[in-house]
Amino acid sequence: MPFNWHPNEPPPPIEPHSKAKLRVLRNYLRAYFDRLGTVYARDEFKLDLVDGFAGGGTFLDGSETISGTPLIMLEEAREAKTRLAHGRRKRIHFDFKFYFVDVKAAHTDHLRQAMAERGYNANDEAVVIRTGKFEDNVRTILQEIKKRQPRAGRSLFLLDQFGYSQVALRHVADILSELPRAEVILTFAADALINFLRDRPEFVKAVAPLEMSDTDVRELLDLKKSHGGKALVQRALRTRLRQVTAAKFDTPFFIRPTSSARALWFVHLSRHPTARDVMVQRHWDLANTFEHFGPGGLNMLGWDERGDYPLFQFGDVEHKLVHEQLLASVPAEIHALAAESPVTVDAIRHMLANRTAARFSDLDRVLLDLYKGREVEIHLANGNLRGSSTMHLNSTDLIAQPRQRSIFVRGGGVHEQ
Ligand SMILES: C[S@@+](CC[C@H](N)C(=O)[O-])C[C@H]1O[C@@H](n2cnc3c(N)ncnc32)[C@H](O)[C@@H]1O
Repeated sequence: MPFNWHPNEPPPPIEPHSKAKLRVLRNYLRAYFDRLGTVYARDEFKLDLVDGFAGGGTFLDGSETISGTPLIMLEEAREAKTRLAHGRRKRIHFDFKFYFVDVKAAHTDHLRQAMAERGYNANDEAVVIRTGKFEDNVRTILQEIKKRQPRAGRSLFLLDQFGYSQVALRHVADILSELPRAEVILTFAADALINFLRDRPEFVKAVAPLEMSDTDVRELLDLKKSHGGKALVQRALRTRLRQVTAAKFDTPFFIRPTSSARALWFVHLSRHPTARDVMVQRHWDLANTFEHFGPGGLNMLGWDERGDYPLFQFGDVEHKLVHEQLLASVPAEIHALAAESPVTVDAIRHMLANRTAARFSDLDRVLLDLYKGREVEIHLANGNLRGSSTMHLNSTDLIAQPRQRSIFVRGGGVHEQ
């Protein structure tokens, strides 16, 4: 059921899966700020945060009032300012700007009230609250961000829609193509879409925001009827989300509501592998909140003839399994990738990111184990062989097949001798 807020009424009660979503968002924002704080030793720190389906700002959790997504953004930004300023010799200037959009005036009114009660100024230049549809506001927001941050467009967009087709994917494509450093978190009720899948004009019209034609809908229906059923449709939808938005990296994990069998996807889309890795790390940290059907190795969302999809829950068992599966499958990948010349650790991470639930640190451990087992060689960027007791990889290290004994770097390229 959609949530409703009104300034004169208590906020709506929260449901378990929404609570899980809030937890991961808070955790992600914290990690996001910390990463930027350590990576960028600068005096100024600009970021735009957009909540396109903001809601009224609070929920009732039993007798307690808890923060919704716009307040979580404000709270984490405020805390990050204190945390990141700590221990710095030079004063650092944080320049955060927030955009909160909701189509209902009662919701934005409730949000203003909730902000005021917590000491946030809704009339501040740094907080823009807009009553209206996200799709009618996104263009202006994009322009404002580009004006403030012409080069990087560093921004986070949370698009917490109700259902699966309120967010037209072309808007996500615009965000990712116009703002090089943007990340988008999109909720997507994939199971609801699969259940409603029909070869009817009303349905085809409903999924037009996903850039689906009647032929696409018929193809999904064929998949649904096939042996692979729902799992195949999920895989096709995941591919569509990534292709239409032109996101290079995604995380296809979902929250399973206890109250219903329908899973809600919480998809993170970006053009940066590090952004994807920070999000996957959150899933491992918050095990049991996020799940996905399939193995965690390289064929994570590949089609498995047998059609049996184990439930993957980011726990200790899965961690061990992912390691074993990767140990078995990565050598063949390296064989293909490094057939001509050695490849960097970074390139391997990028190639494999969308195909596994592993973090980059997990992939590194696999590469180190393969090195110990003499299945690969690891060279420093200058071509020297890494010491055999090495415990740590650099992104510029080169992975080679054992036969590529001797390499040297010529004009930036790496060649076999
Ligand atoms: C799931 S609720 C958001 C909850 C909020 N993100 C949170 O967890 O605190 C979805 C909100 O989107 C709003 N909404 C629905 N369609 C919209 C649209 N096209 N543009 C902007 N907001 C919309 C609804 O009024 C509702 O408040």
